[in-house]
Amino acid sequence: MALIIGMILTLAIIFATKDFIKKYPKISYFISFVFSIVVIYLYYTEINKELPEVFSKYVLNTFKRGIFATTIFMVVMFLGCVKNHTSLTRKFMEIRGEISIIGCIFALTHNIIYGRRYFVWLLFDWSQFKNINQLVAVILSVILVILMLILMVTSFRCVRAKMSAKIWKNIQKLAYPFFYIIYLHVMTLYVSKFDEKIFEIIVYTIIYLIYTIMRLNKTKIKKISR
Ligand code: HEM
Repeated sequence: MALIIGMILTLAIIFATKDFIKKYPKISYFISFVFSIVVIYLYYTEINKELPEVFSKYVLNTFKRGIFATTIFMVVMFLGCVKNHTSLTRKFMEIRGEISIIGCIFALTHNIIYGRRYFVWLLFDWSQFKNINQLVAVILSVILVILMLILMVTSFRCVRAKMSAKIWKNIQKLAYPFFYIIYLHVMTLYVSKFDEKIFEIIVYTIIYLIYTIMRLNKTKIKKISR
């Protein structure tokens, strides 16, 4: 359910802010950064518990649990599979790099809030993990953070301008393992709570299956038209 709400929220925000992001990318990064810091602050100080439950559950939680960031990555990845662009997807394509940077900024919120506990356990005390799945998910999250930072830095236009097109394109291919490792990260956590998370498992799996089919389709069409 949270993923579907996150997806609707993401699409609505991107739709409402697309022109602003295109015109003022740096201000958009700054606003996202400030928002992320505020969310981290609310959780660190536990002020979130004093806020209205609906806001905490449906808005703050979406940022804390990495859902907003992940749904942005989903939009970015699906845009890469579109065969015939409409005027709207074309507009989204123009800000694809910018929205992926914003996704990374919001992912940092999730990484910092959860990393505070889980990275400490990973470094100093593995016995604290509830089960092997949690440990594996956190190890996968380290790979995710490394890949994300590489993708994020190279998405800035000023960094991109300093690289050859070929090297930049090859680096951007890391987005595929990054995207699929998110699925592994989530599934590793959720299979250990199978009964409770069955709906989420089904929704994530359907989204990734549709993505894989669309991606393979696009590759096939490209090969045929060469
Ligand atoms: C770029 C890096 C990351 C991405 C994109 C990501 C994404 C996600 C997503 C999409 C979920 C499932 C949310 C849901 O549907 O409820 C999740 C759950 C979780 N992640 Fe991450 N994650 C990342 C890094 C991390 C890091 C660094 C940690 C901790 C060290 C972490 C710990 C967790 C935990 C504990 C959950 C379970 C939360 C819950 O069930 O409420 N993640 N992550």
